Amino acid sequence: MKLYGDLAEWWPLLSAPEEYAEEAKVYLEHLLGSGTAPAATLVEFGSGGGNNASHLKTHFDRVTLVDPAAGMLAVSRKLNPGCEHVQGDMRTTRLGRQFDRVFLHDAICYMTSLDDLRMAVETAFLHCRPGGAAVFCPDAIRENFRPSTDCGGHDGAGRALRYLEWCWDPDPADDTYTVDYVYALREDGAVRIEHDRHIEGLFARAEWLRILEEVGFQARSVPFEHSEIEPGTLELFVAVR
Ligand SMILES: C[S@@+](CC[C@H](N)C(=O)[O-])C[C@H]1O[C@@H](n2cnc3c(N)ncnc32)[C@H](O)[C@@H]1O
Repeated sequence: MKLYGDLAEWWPLLSAPEEYAEEAKVYLEHLLGSGTAPAATLVEFGSGGGNNASHLKTHFDRVTLVDPAAGMLAVSRKLNPGCEHVQGDMRTTRLGRQFDRVFLHDAICYMTSLDDLRMAVETAFLHCRPGGAAVFCPDAIRENFRPSTDCGGHDGAGRALRYLEWCWDPDPADDTYTVDYVYALREDGAVRIEHDRHIEGLFARAEWLRILEEVGFQARSVPFEHSEIEPGTLELFVAVR
């Protein structure tokens, strides 16, 4: 995906940290309110540019951020210099230690098969201490997926970005949907256009809950409440080890 590769340094102009304040509050509420162990350490797998982490980090003693994309880690290091950053895939990373809370935000959408989803859940479980909790936040599950379009972007120093996000499902019978992005990148007065295609996983609530339970978590789905999201259209999975 170009966005996390060659275009990673443009990420803050696509998605700014301040846009995450309200949702990060919701994730924090579930992270701190679930599990019996005190919440001092947090690991996030698929932390990207670290936008959520920029809001979560002040509530934990130590935060570890894991992402496979070097360019995204570089963006996050600038925003979250006090956090530990590790390059790794959520399916295979083994840090050799456990954390009080584990967070997997929208990067979980890049698990495009049930086998991949299970591997990511196993990673979360292995890194979660007994009594700890994990929160998983897919952009969609099968029951609430709807085709959509969105647009946005920001102005920066000497450059600006605008994007169109077009989310559709070419084959409702399989386990994925497609997000096509068109980016307009303006620099030194010139605008170039890039197209990027992201293939994302789409699983039923029961499949999510089955995998979470089979791996060893006690799991439940909870509605995601946010002023910009229509009630009942998005949900999270909260899992306690
Ligand atoms: C939309 S960004 C995440 C942004 C993040 N939620 C934030 O708060 O800034 C999605 C991230 O998923 C990461 N990703 C894609 N496949 C992954 C995998 N297999 N394991 C871990 N992260 C992955 C990408 O590198 C990218 O940084």
